[in-house]
Amino acid sequence: MAENIHTQFHRFVAPAEKEALLGQRGIVLWLYGLSGSGKSTIAAALERSLHEGGHFTVILDGDNFRHGLNSDLGFSDEDRHENVRRVAEVARVFALQGVIVLVSVITPKKSLRSLARGIVGESFQEIFIRASYETCATRDPKGLYAKVAEGKIKQFTGKESGFEEPCSPDLLIDTEKIDPTSAVEMIKTLLPE
Ligand SMILES: Nc1ncnc2c1ncn2[C@@H]1O[C@H](COP(=O)(O)OP(=O)(O)O)[C@@H](O)[C@H]1O
Ligand SMILES: [Mg+2]
Repeated sequence: MAENIHTQFHRFVAPAEKEALLGQRGIVLWLYGLSGSGKSTIAAALERSLHEGGHFTVILDGDNFRHGLNSDLGFSDEDRHENVRRVAEVARVFALQGVIVLVSVITPKKSLRSLARGIVGESFQEIFIRASYETCATRDPKGLYAKVAEGKIKQFTGKESGFEEPCSPDLLIDTEKIDPTSAVEMIKTLLPE
């Protein structure tokens, strides 16, 4: 079926024109790590800082997507793949409009990070938000780790479902050592001048 569907480009305002209007380059800052590692906290602080600096941003948060576009998906390997694929496709669309896209999705496997990078292309930046399982369980901002300990959640990342640490992310932020304000400054160094 897809062979009879042609991507539409004509009549559109070119991405470069939109970037010129916004005064910025489209980019995808893909924050990933365990639940509770600090992805959403840092994404929110980063968005505030960029907004105040005159930038146009959008946050694509995995939890929010799971309430909407991805509400049909669970946490099997297949569904996590589809979850990442859809978020990456949406991120790509926004980045092509000159938007600075802040993604926060667990993205637990190297293959999933490669999938996202392949979809987004060269504007993709991979930012590992690190904290140990034990630290995340202590923070437990959503009460999930307590439920896991009681056996009430299956396929939880870092427990029954594995998390592969990256070898060479574009940026590693260890939130056991770096506060959100410093994390924001580190991530901003990835943005083009
Ligand atoms: N250095 C840090 N960076 C980010 N969050 C931190 C840090 N130290 C403690 N926290 C806390 O950890 C929790 C992270 O939760 P959240 O951002 O929702 O994680 P995630 O989106 O990765 O699941 C928050 O309660 C936050 O206040
Ligand atoms: Mg989050």
